[in-house]
Amino acid sequence: MRAAYYEQFGEPDVIQLGTLPAPEPSEKHVIIRIRAAAVGYWDVKQMRGLSGEQQFPVIPGYEVVGVVIIGSGDLQRGDNVVASLTHPGGLAQFVSAPASRTVMKPPQVPAVDAAGLVVNGGTALEGLDDRAGLQDHEWLLVTAAAGGVGSVAVQLGRIRGARVIGVASAENHELLKDLGAAASFDYHDPEWPAQVRELVPAGVDVLLDAAGGDTGAAAVTTVRQGGRALLIAGEPTSIPDGVKAIPYSANTNGPRLRAVLDLAARGQLRAITDSTHPLDDARAALERVASRHSHGRVVLLVE
Ligand SMILES: NC(=O)c1ccc[n+]([C@@H]2O[C@H](COP(=O)([O-])OP(=O)(O)OC[C@H]3O[C@@H](n4cnc5c(N)ncnc54)[C@H](OP(=O)(O)O)[C@@H]3O)[C@@H](O)[C@H]2O)c1
Repeated sequence: MRAAYYEQFGEPDVIQLGTLPAPEPSEKHVIIRIRAAAVGYWDVKQMRGLSGEQQFPVIPGYEVVGVVIIGSGDLQRGDNVVASLTHPGGLAQFVSAPASRTVMKPPQVPAVDAAGLVVNGGTALEGLDDRAGLQDHEWLLVTAAAGGVGSVAVQLGRIRGARVIGVASAENHELLKDLGAAASFDYHDPEWPAQVRELVPAGVDVLLDAAGGDTGAAAVTTVRQGGRALLIAGEPTSIPDGVKAIPYSANTNGPRLRAVLDLAARGQLRAITDSTHPLDDARAALERVASRHSHGRVVLLVE
């Protein structure tokens, strides 16, 4: 099968295009002919060797949409599905996906949108609902708010009735407003944490930090005593007393994936697509992600 892959760690120029063996059928897995696959910053980190040893060649991509060609359980040949992979393999014509993490694609949700919502949606949903228990009327601060996870977290926060503050470059503030943010601040302005405290003097109730680094370290200082800080991009060295730090590695399982796609099918959740690329341009797609200035998800059109 045709695939984009790498055989050594490095920057996106390690990506090669070529032919690799197609996956073999296995128990409790389906084989999917891929139509669209999304890539994210975790693919770049893995390509740089920051996620531990890998068995080469590695085909990046954990989020796929396509058609089942070998079914399992209720999933039959010909079904249009979305899958959240446990091992990378999306940038190829075929992939083997766990049946438990493969769900039917709602017909109203285009393939590109569905691909881009898998990890973003699952991560935001798990954090805000299951780990922070975000409540109606709480203040939610989202960093990297115009990014993949951030753009979903802003919308989900609004859906759950929270008042959402987004942190992003000024040029993205209009987008954040469209997504439902009540206020937006620019992390390039060193005064932004003070501006958040001016708006919410008691401190925000929940933080979802998708930026990490200096932005993440500043963001945790805006959380109120007793507030919760969801940390998906690394842990700041110092967490203020009384703030509950919640680092987690998201598990976009079948039920979470279904919940995210249901929101999209009802028109409540918009997928933000930064760009689409043919499979042959996989290197450019990963360069775009590596730039850290993609807005929403980068999606490869495989078919
Ligand atoms: N733990 C988990 O389970 C999990 C799951 C998913 C993702 N992640 C991690 O979460 C992070 C976000 O992922 P993503 O896919 O949403 O990222 P992304 O889409 O690549 O993020 C891009 C956004 O990051 C913003 N950004 C870049 N540098 C920044 C800085 N110094 N301060 C603040 N914002 C900055 C940019 O904002 P502007 O364009 O507005 O400047 C851009 O919109 C990554 O580190 C990823 O690996 C972890």
